[in-house]
Amino acid sequence: MYCTKKITDDIVWVGAGSKKISIFEGMYPVPNGMSYNSFLIKDEKTLLMDTVDSHVGIQFLENLTHELDGRKLDYLVVSHMEPDHCALVREIIYRYPDVTLVCNAKTKTMLGQFFGLDSHEKTLLVAENDTLCVGKHTLRFIMAPMVHWPEVMVTYDETSGILFSADAFGIFGALNGQIFDFQVDIAAWLSEARRYYTNIVGKYGAQVQALLKKAATLDIKMICPLHGFIWTTHIPYIIEKYTKWSLYDACEKSVMIVYGSVYGNSENAAAILASKLVDKGMHNVVVYDVSMTHMSYIIADAYRCSHIVFVSPTYNNEIFTNVETVLNDMKAHNIQNHKVAVIENGTWAPNAGKKICDTLAQMKNMTLISPVVTIKSALGEKQLSEIDALADELIKTMN
Ligand code: FEO
Repeated sequence: MYCTKKITDDIVWVGAGSKKISIFEGMYPVPNGMSYNSFLIKDEKTLLMDTVDSHVGIQFLENLTHELDGRKLDYLVVSHMEPDHCALVREIIYRYPDVTLVCNAKTKTMLGQFFGLDSHEKTLLVAENDTLCVGKHTLRFIMAPMVHWPEVMVTYDETSGILFSADAFGIFGALNGQIFDFQVDIAAWLSEARRYYTNIVGKYGAQVQALLKKAATLDIKMICPLHGFIWTTHIPYIIEKYTKWSLYDACEKSVMIVYGSVYGNSENAAAILASKLVDKGMHNVVVYDVSMTHMSYIIADAYRCSHIVFVSPTYNNEIFTNVETVLNDMKAHNIQNHKVAVIENGTWAPNAGKKICDTLAQMKNMTLISPVVTIKSALGEKQLSEIDALADELIKTMN
């Protein structure tokens, strides 16, 4: 049975979602499921903004068929070629042979790579600020490269003031029947919005800044992303978050302790440091065991916390494997502008500290709080003062 949502008098949500989807992009846990948004404009011409992932294709097609109500589909705008949105392009052409694909030149190449459709006859190529009139609605196409793929373009409806923002401003999670931001406690969804942003587009802060600059010139009444809620009453809220995140501006003066531990001794050091920080008045200290928490959550909190402490055993004369994975993932995501401290452990040849510092040196504006604390096997009574001093230094460098 169809399940659609009216957005305006002549724009309808025909997307789909599912809680059976537990991993997004083959990597990110989505315990609340995932939504894939698609929007149909029913004007003199009919125009569809993107399709959906194949997992939810049947529901989407039922929604689209219902809303077209026997009309033909005139246009399909392909915002970008990631298969979670373009999986059904071929199916749409099969069902609606008169449909014209609307895309840019880079997308056309990828249409060939994915579907052999680069020479598709009914293709309308658009470039920056080109417009398409479908009746009352005039759509303006705006390029947003690397937010999230190189060919991404967003679409601004000059008639309704809606920005169809592609992946930008999305959130992990299924919609639960709630399509608009004002229908949920949006603050409760912030951590999933942050985890989505940081892991999906976080590496490309400069490109997100470029899109925000273009968006600032538009009179935006509504933002329709490809995942998550439609932004209406909370547009300034999410724009402010995107501005901070894209500038790698840690939102809170707080400490994230990231540890690996083979037999519990490094974990003990992490716990004692956290305890001392809290005793000294710190709020919102977060502690992650890298072997127990998916790194996407750690990446997200790295954007929130001003200070990061790595606690790592030495393993095969290297950084403990899972700590190294998180550290490399931070580097890959271009994480920068943090104060960082290191506690290493090693029974016979501690070496993790040096290796962590070497990686930090390859990252931008990561300030090391010296000295690296070295534990030999287990924290001794005499070393408590070193952990205490580290806690003091972390707090001192908050300002
Ligand atoms: Fe949700 Fe870039 O795809």
